[in-house]
Amino acid sequence: MSKQILVTGGTGYIGSHTVVELQNEGFDVVIVDDLSNSNIDVLDAIEKITGKRPAFEKFNLADREKTNVFFEQYKNIDAVIHFAAYKAVGESVQKPLEYYRNNLVSLMNLLENMKKHRVSNLVFSSSCTVYGQPDQLPVTESTPRKPAESPYGNTKAVSEDIMRDFSHANEGINCIALRYFNPIGAHPSALIGEFPVGVPNNLVPFITQTAAGLRDELKIFGADYDTPDGTAIRDYINVVDLAKAHVVSINRLLENKQQSSYEFFNVGTGNGYSVMQLVKTFIKVNGVDVKYQITDRRAGDIEKIWADTTLANEELGWEAEKTLEETLESAWAWEKKVRNIK
Ligand code: WQD
Repeated sequence: MSKQILVTGGTGYIGSHTVVELQNEGFDVVIVDDLSNSNIDVLDAIEKITGKRPAFEKFNLADREKTNVFFEQYKNIDAVIHFAAYKAVGESVQKPLEYYRNNLVSLMNLLENMKKHRVSNLVFSSSCTVYGQPDQLPVTESTPRKPAESPYGNTKAVSEDIMRDFSHANEGINCIALRYFNPIGAHPSALIGEFPVGVPNNLVPFITQTAAGLRDELKIFGADYDTPDGTAIRDYINVVDLAKAHVVSINRLLENKQQSSYEFFNVGTGNGYSVMQLVKTFIKVNGVDVKYQITDRRAGDIEKIWADTTLANEELGWEAEKTLEETLESAWAWEKKVRNIK
């Protein structure tokens, strides 16, 4: 009997890639998603890739009644991976209450039901944003968190605290938070990828949409940072590598290998690349042009961050495998597929 994994937000960008890797490992998957930032067609794409269609329920986990009903119905869940959350940094500044309510109430409804229905294991989608601008680089898991720069980032920090406190108060509940750096790229099949609604906030989808002619030019937010080429540095991690980190985390909990009831890991490549390096690498590996213009810094951006991945490498037995070049090729292949560009 295959173990069953609940993936909330499973039709989203990272969620869908994780569902594929879970199915490749033989897990049964049920997705809960309210489709507020993703498309139901992703289920067809997942089925095309793996030959298996995940079960699907459409509702928002901030709805306590619907979440309770779901857990009454699905009695064989062995673990949960929780992606479902609002995640637009800028929007969270405009709508803080929506972000706190959606992101925190969803998690609390989930944890309450996990306790009630004896679902012991949770892997959570956290973010390196909890570190703010670190004083020292690379960041390790011992690097202190800093006050969040946005309500979105604060929901990640508070969610970590909720999991820590709830797992300490409830024997048998074990949580792992994965602190993502910057997820980019798409599945090699080009059947799933990042599909931002409206104008992309993130760098790589803006680059690919500019290359596809949907955007006139890329604005590079600031070239006066204290970095080699003046543009900001991030640790860009391939989304398939990131998805695999969730599978190893689930196995860690199912095999009871966790060292404590609440653990967290940096999930990055350990390499920092500047915005300009990304743009130039994208142009080179894909043989396309990307018009860009240097503009002012974007409010709330930090200057540089990249991960020390030793703990994930040694404790999870996981490391990022894909190169930046193949990741940017996959991003472009996906954009071309979506836009029907040959
Ligand atoms: C990367 C770099 C920008 C767009 C955020 C969240 C993080 C996660 C990923 C949700 C920065 C520059 C960007 C553009 C640019 N969010 N940039 N022109 O801000 O590092 O992280 O998104 O899961 O939690 O904090 O990612 O891709 O927006 O920006 O110059 O049009 O690219 O200034 O230096 P960020 P990003």
